[in-house]
Amino acid sequence: MALKQAALKIRKNAYAPYSGFQVGVALMSSSGEIYTGVNVENVAYPEGTCAEAGAIARMIAAGDRKITAVYVVADGAEPVPPCGGCRQKLAEFSAPDVPVTMATILGIESTLTVAQLLPGAFTLEHVDHVG
Ligand code: THU
Repeated sequence: MALKQAALKIRKNAYAPYSGFQVGVALMSSSGEIYTGVNVENVAYPEGTCAEAGAIARMIAAGDRKITAVYVVADGAEPVPPCGGCRQKLAEFSAPDVPVTMATILGIESTLTVAQLLPGAFTLEHVDHVG
């Protein structure tokens, strides 16, 4: 509930003048701290960043490294699924079984794990086996 409230609240601060699609994210870390983020668009469209990236940046800057739960909310007809790049970003700091709840502002929710969102993820193990 705390994650949901935090994501809904922060979403209102999203800067999305180009898409009109405001996204709010709240992450729970292993320390029990909640980190929030919003999408920040740019007139040079590819420079825009997703809400997940903003929340992860806050968590890392605060010194936390492990995500234990994620809540993503937007004003869509269906719960908003994280984009491909954000799935990889979440996987960097999450165990495969970390739940990602996707939601609409009206309260429709669906939850998948990080592994379900990114099957066959590229991980450190692949890099370690080089050579
Ligand atoms: N967006 C996010 O911030 N997170 C998601 O999970 C999906 C998409 C943003 C990117 C862009 O600012 C807007 O939503 C429309 O694609």
